[in-house]
Amino acid sequence: HKIFIPRDTTTLALGGERVVTAVLKEAQARKLDIEIVRNGSRGISWLEPLIEVETATGRVAYGPVEPHDIAALFDTGFLNGNASHRLSLGDPEEIPYLKKQQRLTFARAGVIDPVSIEDYKAHGGFKGLDKSLTLTGQDIVDEVKASGLRGRGGAAFPTGIKWQTVHDCSADQKYIVCNADEGDSGTFADRLVMEADPLMLIEGMIISGLAVGATQGYIYLRSEYPVAHQVMNEAIANAYASGYLGGDIQGSGKAFNLEVRLGAAAYICGEETSLLESLEGKRGLVRFKPPLPAIEGLFGKPTVVNNVLSLAAVPFIMDKGSKAYADCGMGRSRGTLPFQLAGNLKQGGLVELAFGPTLRELIDDFGGGTESGLPMRAIQVGGPLGAYLPESQWDTPLDYEAFSAIGAVLGHGGIVVFDESVDMTEQARFSMEFCVAESCGKCTPCRIGSTRGVEVIDKIRSGNNVEANLALLDDLCETMIDGSLCAMGSMTPIPVKSAFQYFSEDIALANASSS
Ligand code: NAI
Ligand code: SF4
Repeated sequence: HKIFIPRDTTTLALGGERVVTAVLKEAQARKLDIEIVRNGSRGISWLEPLIEVETATGRVAYGPVEPHDIAALFDTGFLNGNASHRLSLGDPEEIPYLKKQQRLTFARAGVIDPVSIEDYKAHGGFKGLDKSLTLTGQDIVDEVKASGLRGRGGAAFPTGIKWQTVHDCSADQKYIVCNADEGDSGTFADRLVMEADPLMLIEGMIISGLAVGATQGYIYLRSEYPVAHQVMNEAIANAYASGYLGGDIQGSGKAFNLEVRLGAAAYICGEETSLLESLEGKRGLVRFKPPLPAIEGLFGKPTVVNNVLSLAAVPFIMDKGSKAYADCGMGRSRGTLPFQLAGNLKQGGLVELAFGPTLRELIDDFGGGTESGLPMRAIQVGGPLGAYLPESQWDTPLDYEAFSAIGAVLGHGGIVVFDESVDMTEQARFSMEFCVAESCGKCTPCRIGSTRGVEVIDKIRSGNNVEANLALLDDLCETMIDGSLCAMGSMTPIPVKSAFQYFSEDIALANASSS
């Protein structure tokens, strides 16, 4: 009997290891022969630990499972897929939360053993690489351009055009750097890729190397992801052992080497140039652009810096063709975006959808209402530098341009929900204070402006000269937008301004409670 119990961070945090121990103990007591596969998560976080059993008629899921449920599960014959236990969810693919999604990038997540080359290949893995090995670098770049893929880290720059710049540079060494410093609040899609399907990321990086002529890759991983670190390293070792990494990829004569480097918990190292500084062993200070990393990046060499999700989308594009990817989506936002539902929601988790549905549809179809039971009031989309949106904006389609038209960003797809108990002036303060804590310190509007910003917000909250201080805050925000070197300083005003613009009634409430 094969039992799948995820080894991803969420499941482990929810007691996954204790579930494994309980299953082993119970099976031993009953003298049953079982094999436990440590898969990744399917991303249905609210049902974790979600365990699955392989039966003659397919997989059957149970969740959320706690150690004390195990004996009863064995009693009801869960190993044979008996659905009578209250935790039975039936065929996992039929769970509505999953069934309503369009999984291109996350198709294998939770299905396979993340570090098994055989399992990966049995589920379509390395087909994109096999095809890429028969093409020229320019052919691959053209295919990625035609797919319409845009950078999933948040800036949405066309991936194929970035690759073209690196491809066109002549240099003795080029690099592929994967930005896995997933620092946005409420985001976890990069982690899920690395914990559930790391070989897909490896494959995407090898293809990127073939496209631009780079033979060395680095994954810059945040140190807060020890499980992803472990799984990634196991997958890399297995890819080397089976000839997918190294000096002669599958006998092609082409080379690609890859290693993981750990960051040191600085949000700003998710910004591509400070990431490169950090990779070079220096303090994570943002660099001036130009030169673009594509031209002078790591150690001064042409470098592709792409987010995990951008690189992870590439194997699908090369295997199924750019059209299959570009057929999903709306406008200039092609393909899918893995949205990450978090905050005050009953059903948090990963929802991969083609661009196009509205924010309200996403929340209504998947969120299941607030965890607190209170009405929703604000949704922050796109991480700590994204706008807080009131209900009047929830009918905006999930599309880069539509969000930018309302002064918001889709970013990396993180969605954090707040109920009506939230004090939005406190959130504005939090956003500004985040900039104080995470600023790299290189430029004045961000380093000093954010500290002054917190002081001004405190005055507004305590009812001190509110009108004049709101005008001052506006002025300060404009200076940060115009004068900051990177997105940290220039985007912090987005959440701050949206909190005061859309939720101005909270100022009076904050004033009343402070007096
Ligand atoms: P950017 O707009 O300056 O650049 C986008 C990308 O395109 C960069 O990689 C840049 O080097 C590249 N690029 C531009 N022109 C190019 C050309 N001609 N050839 C090749 N490459 C070219 O944006 P930036 O500062 O890199 O990122 C800001 C974004 O990051 C924000 O929109 C925000 O949403 C997002 N962000 C994401 C976070 C996360 O945790 N994923 C955290 C904070 C911000
Ligand atoms: Fe550093 Fe802030 Fe300037 Fe960015 S905006 S370079 S984080 S000081």
